[in-house]
Formats: sequence, structure tokens, C-alpha cells
Amino acid sequence: MESLASIILAAGKGTRMKSGLIKVLHPIAGLPMIAWPVAAARDAGSDTNVLVIGHQATAVQGVFRGTADIRCAMQEEQLGTGHAVACALETLTGFRGTVLILCGDTPLLRSDTLKSMLTFHRTNHAAITVLTALVKDPYGYGRVVRAPSGRVTRIVEQKDAAPEEQEIREINSGIYCMDSDFLFNNIRGIGNDNAQGEYYLTDLLAIAVRKELTCLALPAADADEIMGVNDRAQLARAGRILRARINREHMLNGVTIIDPDNTYIDQGVMIGADTTIHPGCRIGGGTVIGEGCEIEGGVSISGCRIGDDCHIKAASVLEDSELGEDVAIGPMAHLRPGTTLGNKVKIGNFVETKKIVMGEGSKASHLTYLGDAEIGRNVNIGCGTITCNYDGVNKHRTVIGDDVFIGSDVQLVAPVSVGRNSLVAAGTTVTTDVPPDSLAIARVPQLNKNGWRLKK
Ligand code: UD1
Ligand code: CA
Repeated sequence: MESLASIILAAGKGTRMKSGLIKVLHPIAGLPMIAWPVAAARDAGSDTNVLVIGHQATAVQGVFRGTADIRCAMQEEQLGTGHAVACALETLTGFRGTVLILCGDTPLLRSDTLKSMLTFHRTNHAAITVLTALVKDPYGYGRVVRAPSGRVTRIVEQKDAAPEEQEIREINSGIYCMDSDFLFNNIRGIGNDNAQGEYYLTDLLAIAVRKELTCLALPAADADEIMGVNDRAQLARAGRILRARINREHMLNGVTIIDPDNTYIDQGVMIGADTTIHPGCRIGGGTVIGEGCEIEGGVSISGCRIGDDCHIKAASVLEDSELGEDVAIGPMAHLRPGTTLGNKVKIGNFVETKKIVMGEGSKASHLTYLGDAEIGRNVNIGCGTITCNYDGVNKHRTVIGDDVFIGSDVQLVAPVSVGRNSLVAAGTTVTTDVPPDSLAIARVPQLNKNGWRLKK
């Protein structure tokens, strides 16, 4: 295998996004935009990937912290794509092989397209191959100028194009394969005598042609793939295309998605076969869902591990939580980070949990807050129960043993524990530990005043 490196251009600000955040860091289907072309390059076999960064450089570097195959090259001033590549080459000194050049704002590019382009480039021993596309509206793009023989002669930018060149519908995607020797030897030959006073990378094509080297243009099978994202309307359009791809893959793996156009599953989510996802769900943060689950409408799940045969009912929100098998959640429940639920647990309507462990078969079916608690197996938590975990300064823990029955409307003022197999009577405020096998009851005896209403 010939060696492959990539250069990914991401120094520009992305002015048309009208954002405080640099364009390539805008999230799209669960990843910062720049992560998509980087993944495509890696998948095509590139093990040295140079990001050209400038605006918000530290934030861009942060995305790839701890990844050994990513190098960053600073481009202090954005003097053009040719200048950007020259900056990157300093970090590739000594590299020999093929260099892939990509843009940070083309999230739809597939690695399969890069692989066919590489094969085309290498089998033809080209100095440079550019990926192109035939589009209905070429405005704004560089146009691929071909000789009557069909051979590529140069690329001309929109602002430099003569009227007849503006009619050309074959556009430059900004994606190239280049032979490293050709690149190193000619990058300094690019000038900036053009309408924008920039160093155009595209000038390398004319240089290759002039030197009678092989210079090829390969039209992409799917013009969508090379779509660059410049504004938020294009961001939404690209997001829709990426989600459709992600959803399709899940469906082909045996997941039922009732309405794929209205299901928002991020890249990196895993879902088992025979799980059904209803409309309006959002699933992200590297969530893993088992087989045979039912995820009802409007559910939002992030950073969770969910076992087989779970039933997540409508409009529930699950964050950074872990669920065993055959667990039922909701409707309208909120599992906050650090919730760990054993098999066959039931968390019902309007229940909120945070940093709790709940053992197998335990239930909290209605209107409850459970925070900072350790709850055993087969525990019943009655309607309206509250763990009073916060005294205004510190958080405290509640510990409930196996087989405990907590009646309705109980407050557990933490730190407090209820021993195994005890019963806490409805309406009790528990302020001291309850021993095992006991009854705890704390409520004011009821007084009935007979005939009281008649006297009023
Ligand atoms: C470029 C191409 C054009 C092509 C289009 C495809 C040139 C001269 N033109 O034009 O033929 O049709 O892409 O989208 O190459 N960048 C830097 N540093 C710079 C300049 C740009 O890192 O100094 C980065 C940008 O952040 C961006 C990419 O390079 O990710 C493309 O730059 P942009 O200014 O958008 O080029 P276009 O004018 O679109
Ligand atoms: Ca662009």
C-alpha cells in the first residue's frame, strides 16, 4: 500500500454562518462539522491528517485532543487555499506518497468516494486529480475548464471567470489527490495575481498541464456529497442528508423507524435489532440501545446504555444513565445523569431521578423525586415520595434496603436509611434511620369534629 496523508483546510471563519462559533465547529448529526471529513479521510486509509487552522484554533484542536494521527498547522492569515496547503506542507516534511486535500466544510463526503478517487488517481499515475461535480447552479464555485479533447486545462474561480466560462456547469469540489513530489515542488509556484489577490490552490492544475504532467478531473457520482456548508440553510440541508444516511443504516440493521424524516439519531449511536423508534425522538451522545426495545414519540436520550426489551414511553428525557433489561420508563419521566437501574425496574409518570442506583424489580410509578439514593431490589416507592437530599448547603444520601415498601407522600430527609423489609407509612416524614423489618409512621393523629360544618 502506498502511503496516504491528508490536509484538511479549516482556517477560515465561515462569515456567512453569522455565528460566534467558527463554521467547522458547528455540530451536524452529532459531530462538529470538521469531524466528518476527518473521518472520511481516516476511513480512506489516511493515517497522518493535517488540519490547517487559524480562527478559534484552540477550540478546533480541542475536538481532536489525544488523537495521535492529527497534526495541526497554523495559518495566521488566510491568504488563500494555496497558502493554506503550503502551511500544512511544513508539517509533512519527508512524507512521500499521495496527499488528499479536503475542506473542513464538506460533511457529506463519503470515504467510498475518496477510495475510488484514490484508485483512479494512482492507476493513472496522475500528478493531480480533482473531484468535480455537474451541478444545475454553478454560481460561486471554481469552474473546470477542459480543452476540446476533454482534457482538463485549468480551474477558474467565479470572480475571475469570463462570461463563457461562467456557463460551465462542471465545478471544483475543492477535493484533490496529489502526488507529494508534485505538491512539494510546485506549491511555491502559485502566485496571487487574480481578482481576490489570494493564493489559489487551483492554480496547481494549470501548472501541471504546463509541465505536461497528468492532470485529471473525476466527476462525483453524487453531487450532494461535495456540497460545502456556507450558511445555516445549507447546514440544515446537510444535516437532513446525514440523518437520512444514519437512519437508513439502522433500518437495514433491523431497527424499525416509523418516520425516518422525523427521527434524529446522531452518528455513533448503536441500536439492536427489533427495536422500534417512534417519531420525534432524539438519540445522541454515543447511546447504546439493546434489542426489542420500544422508544415512543418525543423521547430524548443522550449518553445512555439501555438493555434489551426496555420500553421508554412518550416524552421522557434520559441523560447519561444506565438501564438493565425489561425496564419501563415514563411517560414524561426524567432520568438525570448517574441513574443506574437494574432489570425490570419501573419508573413511571413525572418521576425524576438523579445519581441513584435502583435494584431489580423496584418501582417508582408516579410523581416522585429520587436523588443521591441507593435503593435495593423489589422496593416499592409510593406516589409523591421525595428524597430531601439537599439542605441548602450539602447533598446527602438516602439508602433503602431490599423489599422495602415506601407509602405514598413520604419524605426521606437525608442522610437517612430504611432497613430491609421495612414499611414506611403513607404521609410519613422520615428523619431518623428505620431498622430492618419495621414500620415507620410519623403523622399527626386525625381529629374529626362531628357536625362542624352544620354549625357554620
Ligand atoms: C474553493 C475553490 C473553488 C471550489 C470551492 C469548493 C480555490 C481558490 N477555490 O473556493 O474552486 O469550487 O472551494 O467549495 O481553492 N481556507 C483556509 N485558508 C485560506 C483560505 C481558505 O484554510 O486561506 C479554507 C476555508 O476555511 C475552507 C476552504 O479552505 O474550509 C475553502 O475556502 P473558501 O474560501 O471557502 O474557498 P472557495 O472560495 O469556496
Ligand atoms: Ca467554500
